[in-house]
Amino acid sequence: MNKAQLYIGLMSGTSADGIDLALVDFNEKTPKLVASYYQAYNQNIHRKITSLYTPADNEIDRAFSLNNELAHVFAQAINTFLQQQKLHSDDIVAIGNHGQTIRHRPNQTHSFTLQIGCCQTLACLTQIKVIGQFRQKDIALGGQGAPLVPAFHQVIFNNENHDVFIVNIGGIANISYLPSLNAIKQGKTLIGYDSGTGNALMDDWFVFNKANHNSNKHYDDNGHWAATGTANSVLLQQLLNDNYFKLPAPKSTGREYFNLTWLHKKLAHPTIKALNLSAADIQASLLQFTAITISNEIKSISLQAKVYFCGGGIHNTRLKHKLNQLLTDYEILMTDHKGVDADSLEAMAFAWLAYAYNKKIFSNSPAVTGASQKTTLGCAFYP
Ligand SMILES: Nc1ncnc2c1ncn2[C@@H]1O[C@H](COP(=O)(O)OP(=O)(O)O)[C@@H](O)[C@H]1O
Ligand SMILES: [Mg+2]
Repeated sequence: MNKAQLYIGLMSGTSADGIDLALVDFNEKTPKLVASYYQAYNQNIHRKITSLYTPADNEIDRAFSLNNELAHVFAQAINTFLQQQKLHSDDIVAIGNHGQTIRHRPNQTHSFTLQIGCCQTLACLTQIKVIGQFRQKDIALGGQGAPLVPAFHQVIFNNENHDVFIVNIGGIANISYLPSLNAIKQGKTLIGYDSGTGNALMDDWFVFNKANHNSNKHYDDNGHWAATGTANSVLLQQLLNDNYFKLPAPKSTGREYFNLTWLHKKLAHPTIKALNLSAADIQASLLQFTAITISNEIKSISLQAKVYFCGGGIHNTRLKHKLNQLLTDYEILMTDHKGVDADSLEAMAFAWLAYAYNKKIFSNSPAVTGASQKTTLGCAFYP
């Protein structure tokens, strides 16, 4: 048997709920998830991260101090994970560190995307080579720098005779479309972009309305609170009218756009104010909004396909039920069906990006991000 080629992928999405770690073996043709680990952020770290999503006072000091603090949080999680797995730093070829996005502005003249969680500090603390800053080169080549996971989706899900979608419902939701061989013959190609908000607005509205429900969680568990309200079609139309949904792909978005300020602006419209909706009605509408924006995109690309779901949002039973209702003509599956744990897929993708860096494999998808050429993403940081 060949020696294992173990990489660790480290992902923390815009929900800022915590870090997902995946230990992946690249020894065989198909990457294999060996183990996974999750560490929630404490309230303090969660707040520090989310307070950097939009412009405010003293951002440089706060961001760069958090850059270092997060590297310590990441390193501690990795060291615990290694102990659990009875592994040593020498057993790991490299860590693929996505980092924590605090700002994503791919569409302005001097576009940028910013992930913190210092790779150099992480390498020194873990004594493992770290590959990170994956989004920078795609942005430098005129791309969106996001989403990066579709290239990895191709590695895992490509052997199908059907059209395939992979939908990741994190804070923001992203969709990958992998055309079947037949569809490729008809000229269809890989597509991937952010469909819009996933859990972001539901989470924000839930926390903002603490007084209206009895929960200390930062999310509406299984949409229980949403279920006490009724989705409103006028509000839904107002939300769906947003310019983001009219833009063609490639496109990506983040918390600097889909946030409470965005929602309050929509709610302040006289037609919406006149409706006198309850906070729970608004939550019900936001849940429906996430489901509709995802299903609309799927239907606009292919009418018959397998749809694999992953990401935390799919644990929301009410959201899952709405998606099932809107996608009755599709075969709905969890990525677990393909042996890929729905909560580890993104972390696995960052382990693959580190592997691709080491092996000099092209790892961006110009068709997805709009970058001017294929390239190998990432930079290496040594202990
Ligand atoms: N049982 C659940 N009910 C409702 N929402 C859930 C549930 N489980 C997870 N979530 C949502 O999933 C989010 C975490 O998903 P994740 O895929 O980690 O997102 P991100 O990639 O943005 O970090 C939580 O913040 C929450 O909004
Ligand atoms: Mg998360």
